[in-house]
Amino acid sequence: MASMPDRGGGPSTEPLSRRSFLSAASGAAMGAGLVAGYGGFAVVAGLYVYPSQQRQMAWVYLGQASRFPVGRVLRFQTPAGRTVTITRVREAGDVDDFLALSTVCPHLGCQVHWEAANNRFFCPCHNGVFDPTGKAISGPPAEAGQSLPRFSLRLDNDLIFIHVPVDPLI
Ligand code: FES
Repeated sequence: MASMPDRGGGPSTEPLSRRSFLSAASGAAMGAGLVAGYGGFAVVAGLYVYPSQQRQMAWVYLGQASRFPVGRVLRFQTPAGRTVTITRVREAGDVDDFLALSTVCPHLGCQVHWEAANNRFFCPCHNGVFDPTGKAISGPPAEAGQSLPRFSLRLDNDLIFIHVPVDPLI
């Protein structure tokens, strides 16, 4: 005699196992999503807190010092894509005539820009204000005592070089 499927009052195992499977699958998918999301965040945060020790630096030629007037502010893009402002602050004939500042706001990483009319660097994200030397004087960066990061410069005779990170070709 052929057995009939149990349609009585007892619990059926087939719908329950499908439900369990779907529940487990959605839980696994949610877990994977959380791991991927937080994992990605952890990687970015880790790179920010512990930047790679493998980063290569190089001296990059900027130009002739004698052709750079006092008070001029130029934007320069490094080979690795960072933007730097170069300012000639005086004319004493040494490397301290020049100042190279990152345009990345130390608060949350927005781009700052030079406002010649106000003699300041300004970050539009949270109204951060920096003096011409890169020291924060208003807004969240000032409250945190932050400054725009500086890059080293070198003067060889009349030639200016900047020390910046470079990405290896290979
Ligand atoms: Fe520049 Fe907040 S990111 S002030």
